[in-house]
Amino acid sequence: MPENAPLLPSGLSERRRARGYITLLVPVVLVLATLGVLIFGKREPTDPLGLAQSWLDHTPVVDGHIDLPIYVREMYGNDVTKFDLGKKMSGHVDIPRMRAGRLGGFFWSVYTDCHEEIDGPDFLNPSHHVRDTLEQIDLARNLMDRYSGTFEFVTTAQGARDAMARGRIASFMGIEGAHQLGNSLGVLRQYYRLGVRYATLTHSCNNAFADSGGYDKPPNATWGGLSPFGFELVKEMNRLGMLIDLSHVSDNTARQAIKASKAPIMLSHSAARHFNNFSRNVPDDVLEMIGRGKGQTDGVVMVNFFPSFASPDPDSVGVAAIADQIDYIVSKTGHHHVGIGSDFDGIDRVPKGLEDMSKYPYLIAELIRRGWTRYQVAQLAGGNILRVLEGAEGVAARLKRVKGPSMAKYDKRRDLDGGWGGFEL
Ligand SMILES: *[C@@H]1O[C@H](CO)[C@@H](O)[C@H](O)[C@H]1NC(C)=O
Ligand SMILES: *[C@@H]1O[C@H](CO)[C@@H](O)[C@H](O)[C@H]1NC(C)=O
Ligand SMILES: [Zn+2]
Repeated sequence: MPENAPLLPSGLSERRRARGYITLLVPVVLVLATLGVLIFGKREPTDPLGLAQSWLDHTPVVDGHIDLPIYVREMYGNDVTKFDLGKKMSGHVDIPRMRAGRLGGFFWSVYTDCHEEIDGPDFLNPSHHVRDTLEQIDLARNLMDRYSGTFEFVTTAQGARDAMARGRIASFMGIEGAHQLGNSLGVLRQYYRLGVRYATLTHSCNNAFADSGGYDKPPNATWGGLSPFGFELVKEMNRLGMLIDLSHVSDNTARQAIKASKAPIMLSHSAARHFNNFSRNVPDDVLEMIGRGKGQTDGVVMVNFFPSFASPDPDSVGVAAIADQIDYIVSKTGHHHVGIGSDFDGIDRVPKGLEDMSKYPYLIAELIRRGWTRYQVAQLAGGNILRVLEGAEGVAARLKRVKGPSMAKYDKRRDLDGGWGGFEL
């Protein structure tokens, strides 16, 4: 067997035996811990990094956007036998660095490219988006299986909490652009059934559902925000319990989707425009729509680490600049609406001090130096995204009782007009 053979859990009997030991050990550990506290006082580290690590051991990071699947597609043609996640990888992501960074879970981004020329002016050109998305889902699941002692595929907030309690890395999937839907709500529903729990409404191109924010400047608007079909997409995602992700979208798309959504929303990997006037970054007025006050929508803004987003001077970006991003988003939304969406393996430069997945505790240490409490850190690290997902799950449970699947179609499609008679058998 190759060295990178699956790290399968070593059999039920062994697990049962382990559980037996644990049952015996619990009272012993409790007595020792109580004695320890009585004799030595509370043994919490006093340095910010030690404290960050100790807090994250209990409430680990759930990262909103990790590009490992597209990295593996580009580097290894999706062949999971060609590399070993158990050893140091050339990117930002591997299992040893996840563990060092106190990662408890993440969204595996199942992304396929978008280019205006692929889709054509009405987004009707045939493309491989759906095939390639299925391949990326397959890849993510293959890796979860191959390293099943580490990863646990999850689709619910509670599933993630349970996986983390077992010491596994909770593994969600998200698609990064509605161009991956093939202009079809049927495809959306099948992605949901395969376990996808967020969909970004656009990548860097406009699509049949919505306008994109582009990169530094937005592309010319096609719809002025959401298309009529895009509003149907928002409703159907609410009904399914798939989170609406507003990273990458145009300002008008974000505003309209936040207003239209009956469920909490997310931005899986975004920085604040306040620091750098890139259209890909979130403007203040969109941040101010997110919250639990009157007229606001609950949501979480997960901060992107990409230095080119964080500052017009990317070379200057270190841990402090990313902490500034977080503090700024908190100043506009509150501590319940911020998270971490590093974009690791999807960015070609990294902040000094946040070079890879092992470095999350350094960011938390910086926030502790700034006065963040243990509770606030827990919300940022993973609490907020799981609350938001759970909120969407609740809305979906209510909507599913009263609504069946949406029959809405993209009005420019002619192949689903019905009427039987357009062809001969
Ligand atoms: C930000 O950039 C946009 C172009 O994308 C421009 O219209 C706007 O005036 C700029 N805002 C500031 C404050 O520089
Ligand atoms: C965008 O709109 C401007 C102004 O209407 C126009 O000059 C430009 O050619 C358009 N760009 C594209 C790519 O369509
Ligand atoms: Zn992205």
